[in-house]
Amino acid sequence: MLIDPSYKYRPFPPIALADRQWPNRTIRQAPIWMSTDLRDGNQALFEPMNAERKLRLFRTLCGIGFKEIEVAFPSASQTDFDFVRRLIDEALIPDDVTIEVLSHAREPLLRRTVEALHGARSAIVHIVNATSQPFRELVLGMSRDEVLAMAVDAVRLVKQLTADQPQTQWRLQYSLETFSATEPDFAVEVCDAVSAVWGATPDNKIILNLPSSVETATPNVYADQIEWMHRHIARRDSVILSVHPHNDRGTAVAAAELALMAGAERVEGCLFGNGERTGNVDLVTLALNLYTQGVAPGLDFSDIGKVVGDFEACTGLSVPPRQPYAGELVFTAFSGSHQDAIKKGFAARQPDSVWNVPYLPFDPADVGRGYNAVIRINSQSGKGGIAHLLESHYGVVLPRLLQSEFWRVVQQHADRHGGEIGAEPLWQLFAQTYLDLAKPLRYRGHQLFEHAQGQAIQLQIEWDGEPHALTGVGNGPVDAAVLALQGIGIEVTVRSYEERSLGESIKGGDAKACAIVEIASSHNQTVRYGVGLADSILTASLGALFSGVNRLSVD
Ligand code: KIV
Ligand code: ZN
Repeated sequence: MLIDPSYKYRPFPPIALADRQWPNRTIRQAPIWMSTDLRDGNQALFEPMNAERKLRLFRTLCGIGFKEIEVAFPSASQTDFDFVRRLIDEALIPDDVTIEVLSHAREPLLRRTVEALHGARSAIVHIVNATSQPFRELVLGMSRDEVLAMAVDAVRLVKQLTADQPQTQWRLQYSLETFSATEPDFAVEVCDAVSAVWGATPDNKIILNLPSSVETATPNVYADQIEWMHRHIARRDSVILSVHPHNDRGTAVAAAELALMAGAERVEGCLFGNGERTGNVDLVTLALNLYTQGVAPGLDFSDIGKVVGDFEACTGLSVPPRQPYAGELVFTAFSGSHQDAIKKGFAARQPDSVWNVPYLPFDPADVGRGYNAVIRINSQSGKGGIAHLLESHYGVVLPRLLQSEFWRVVQQHADRHGGEIGAEPLWQLFAQTYLDLAKPLRYRGHQLFEHAQGQAIQLQIEWDGEPHALTGVGNGPVDAAVLALQGIGIEVTVRSYEERSLGESIKGGDAKACAIVEIASSHNQTVRYGVGLADSILTASLGALFSGVNRLSVD
């Protein structure tokens, strides 16, 4: 690691644009999207997609709503050439979708490219050549004039070749590869020259694509470059200004967003940021960032799980758990304070109101995710999260103090066993802690009678394995049972009592009622909660009392 890297790396020189306008703008409409998953994304895979996978991903992209899809680099591989032919010959392209194909600006490649598109209803020919100084000098060995001539000649040839196939609705895209490292005056010169040769008009716009082929600077520098181009290129009304950010600095999404504020109208990228090196801009994040600002993206990610599944199956890549909007963990809170805030946010939510759930910037339902994964439990989790899980999965609402008591049980368990505790194991832990009436006080049965001083109860129980029949008279059945237990020396007082019906919520069980008691030992005032579940509220209450006694006697 270099302590002083300045002799090796230099900051990228910013463009002079003192009166930049983009910082004051907001994005109010979605751009034209172009998916390059089947080209830039495909070229960057360990193993490029075969025709079947390409077709599956093509269909997924159409289903999402992409209207421009770069499907291949037909002059570069037979697979790609054949894929374009198959799409056209088998009429697999929806009427509202235009396919695009890439070619370098060289005559034989351009001829092969146009040949691949023969018979297409509509198509975009995408010509690219590198324009920056390092590429001119190191890679191409060309002067500025030669690079300019290369671009112009390529466009002229495509114009001629496409004129011979008038049945296709042709459009042209020209990309200045390495645009963001190109001198702005040269970039404008090339852009103006190619749009003049193509004969771009407001009815026949040329797409001028300005890639950050390698991200070289902070997103504001890219935005300045885009605004500069937006203000300086000729025939602005005959041009669709497009951007193609890569993610080498990890800021492709920000660069795309600022570029849209700076005048870009179209964005090229890939699902989940696939592409060479760190990838192209992630179109899923970009689109859903718009969505969460209240702007309709025009792309449908309402079943993100399916998109992830198709993407992974086709590319062989996996979507990481923290991938914005799509990762397995992005709607999950493990931390206690986050869980508490989310639980309160959910509780305060009104139907059809503006989304405002703390720590959950986006409604998981909008991408087809349920709420079950929002709160997950491990040793970092808090009582609010635990209570939420028991309530949402099992319908058991815990009073606050019981939440604290059970939270300590969960923490001990998590510290001992590590890892996550799912809803079902959490329920088992709850049941083991509160509902296991096996020892030492075991319920066997009861009968209730009216009595002159209130209610009388007869209890059949086991206490430390010994059967007992006990009787008590009190204000109500629980009071009577407390008094009955005094017959075997159990001295407790009930401090609070709650009951509720459970409906269908206990999975697989037939309990209909839940009772929760807070009891204190008359000997040392230790307080414990007891919980009872049963098919009647009375049996549940007795269960809760017995559960509390057992909890006291365990300590
Ligand atoms: O990154 C790039 O410059 C490209 C061009 C072909 C647009 O992918
Ligand atoms: Zn690229």
